[in-house]
Amino acid sequence: MSSPSIALPTTPESILPLVIQAMSRTPDVRLRELMASLTSHLHAFILETQVTEEEFERAVKFLIDIGQATGEKTNEVILAADLLGVSSLVAVLNNPANHPDAQDEAASHAALLGPFWRANAPVCQSGDSIARGNTQGVPLEVRGVVYDKHGKPLANATVDVWHASPVGLYENQDDAQENMNLRGRFKTDAQGAYFFKTVRPAGYPVPTNGPCGDLLRAQLRHPNRPAHLHFMVSTPGHKVLITQVFADGDENLTSDPVFGVTAPLVGNFEERTVNGQRQASLTHDFHLVEGEMTFPHPPIP
Ligand code: BEZ
Ligand code: FE
Repeated sequence: MSSPSIALPTTPESILPLVIQAMSRTPDVRLRELMASLTSHLHAFILETQVTEEEFERAVKFLIDIGQATGEKTNEVILAADLLGVSSLVAVLNNPANHPDAQDEAASHAALLGPFWRANAPVCQSGDSIARGNTQGVPLEVRGVVYDKHGKPLANATVDVWHASPVGLYENQDDAQENMNLRGRFKTDAQGAYFFKTVRPAGYPVPTNGPCGDLLRAQLRHPNRPAHLHFMVSTPGHKVLITQVFADGDENLTSDPVFGVTAPLVGNFEERTVNGQRQASLTHDFHLVEGEMTFPHPPIP
């Protein structure tokens, strides 16, 4: 019997070139490049680890499960990327200030968006409190200045903030909180300054009631993020800065399950007691770089 003239795979290694060939006419050059690289790494991974059929089935089930667990309240697909360090890697890679050899040393470090940002948080006036309803906690005042790359204050920039409550829950995870509690959008004044009031956030576990929680447990990893505030700072002509500011002294700063903490993002929270009442303040400036003002898609509605 003569062998067919077209190449048919005979070994595990001979499948990859056929796949690359099949995808080679993809008109979108970047899609072609990404898929060729991804496929090559996937094949190499499967060969290296000798993935079994049962393991492949489990992996497919995990992907189905994170998709099905994603909805109004949480995004398990993003959470999976977070727990693998992928979200932090993309944030660091695309924000030159995060590199140790950064040219623009003043530019603020970025951090992962996380699954809980919501678009269209309430528009607030400088000095407003974002602790809505009867949110109890240590009062916290947050202020700072938004600068451009020359160190010039940026007036009318938007500072979008969101954070977990003093019990460690975002409002959309907690029926006891008002809609949009601990979320707000502020404009900088003529001096580039922003100022808002809130309550100190607590650290919290990433959601562990879905497939990502099962993965963490299988890896004997704790789920607790250090306490932090999220910020998205934007103004036309500048790259949108997505970042987080962490509470200094938090016991989980060096074991964040989503690898979001870098040294410049540890904030200087000051606390004092006035008439028996704890009060906290944080001053944190932001330095934007020039670029396109592009916003991410909200992970949850
Ligand atoms: C957050 O900071 O909101 C977050 C980030 C990653 C996973 C879960 C939560
Ligand atoms: Fe968070």
